[in-house]
Amino acid sequence: METTVKRTKIKDLLKSEPGMEVLAKGWVRTKRGNKQVKFIALNDGSTINNIQIVADTSLFEEDLIRRITTGSSLAVRGELVASLGSGQAVEIQAKEIEIYGECDPMRYPLQKKDTSLEYLRSVAHMRLRTNTFGAILRVRNAMAFAIHKFFNEKGFVYLHTPLITESDAEGAGDMFQVTTLDLANVPVEHGKVDFSKDFFGKKTSLTVSGQLEGELGATAVGEIYTFGPTFRAENSNTPRHLAEFWMIEPEMAFYDIEDNMELAEEFVKYLVQYALDNCMDDLKFLNDKYDEGLIERLRSVIGISFERVTYTKAIEILEAAVASGVQFEYPVHWGTDFQSEHERYLVEKHFGKPVILIDFPKDIKAFYMKQNEDGKTVRGMDVLFPKIGEIIGGSEREASLEKLETRIDELGMSRKNLEWYIDTRRYGTVPHSGFGLGFERLLLFVTGMANIRDVIPFPRTPKNAEF
Ligand code: 4AD
Ligand code: MG
Repeated sequence: METTVKRTKIKDLLKSEPGMEVLAKGWVRTKRGNKQVKFIALNDGSTINNIQIVADTSLFEEDLIRRITTGSSLAVRGELVASLGSGQAVEIQAKEIEIYGECDPMRYPLQKKDTSLEYLRSVAHMRLRTNTFGAILRVRNAMAFAIHKFFNEKGFVYLHTPLITESDAEGAGDMFQVTTLDLANVPVEHGKVDFSKDFFGKKTSLTVSGQLEGELGATAVGEIYTFGPTFRAENSNTPRHLAEFWMIEPEMAFYDIEDNMELAEEFVKYLVQYALDNCMDDLKFLNDKYDEGLIERLRSVIGISFERVTYTKAIEILEAAVASGVQFEYPVHWGTDFQSEHERYLVEKHFGKPVILIDFPKDIKAFYMKQNEDGKTVRGMDVLFPKIGEIIGGSEREASLEKLETRIDELGMSRKNLEWYIDTRRYGTVPHSGFGLGFERLLLFVTGMANIRDVIPFPRTPKNAEF
């Protein structure tokens, strides 16, 4: 198309005053109308909203109009005029239309009846072009930006921790190994794999958390955060687990558990507020299509203080619930880890607001958590949210060299591989704390989606790594 008019994004066109020549580009959502006039809804991904193109059929080749179908891509030059229809303030009276790419209506998968979220996951090109995914990608982007903004305003340093690592920070052992060894011909020495022949000369994996490296950053520049992909080979086929997810891990020198809880609460409230302030069109769409209570729920968490409860007290509440007839799939008693049904009972039924659980039995938490005086519990914290359960896990860290080393030994972990970490306790140790926010868990909450696979563009789960 030969024109001196510059293309304007649809988001901006919809806010513009009528009366000027414009150029819009995008994909056709729908085409309707009659012999004389066609109404084309055009979307370019800049907003959930479409701009309406009005095409007087007498101005165009019949064949061109015929080739404009759902999914095809166009450039449209014309006049921005006040819209007569309701729904939008302006529309484009088309003068010239160019088709970039046709979209065969017989073969385009969106025409199929089955446009369930599950079906969409199998059609990568189309999935991201749906209204739902457009909304999710824009909210996801806004949240990523807000996370950097929040920490930047507080003077935290964005630290890049390695994705390939030797250390299993959480001690759960569910890591993806990274190797260049020929798996059909693995070098063996004394009956064991000889990792000295491997690329790094040792056994390495994808990281499950940047925390341990983060602690080195925090005990150097004071306050850091990481924000990157995280990998867990847990065989958890649930609506809340991914094998590859993104995590934000702030780590702060001189913070105790109280400071840690305060920061976590301020952080998530800031993010929810940011979404309400900047993503309202998308949130309204998601609210109407998937989760009627979404916007209400987002507003409600901002206005209230999260409930702070010890693990022991939470167990008492759950045991009382069981005694009064509430049924859980998994048993609960002191010493067990909570399942999401328990977390959701506390948040949704008992307290009716987000809950921060603290002081867990040491045996269900990682080695690095600060031990309490009672010898039984550690200063961990989990932030639990409605509909999701845990979205944040964190703790004050064990700052005492002796206690940390003893705990590592008790758990049968290798001290040798952790010397670089233990050194922080050897040389100028300080009280410090941190936590990890699961980015996709946050997005579940902010978008109201029910399945974590639907808040990440290319989900990885057991037996699924397509595209
Ligand atoms: O509770 P987690 O395992 O804590 C840590 O990794 C600590 N090193 C964090 C820290 O203190 N710096 O994980 C933190 C959060 C969870 O609360 C959850 O939101 C998310 O990460 N998460 C997952 N999200 C999606 N899929 C999975 N498989 C997840 N595992 C954890
Ligand atoms: Mg956790």
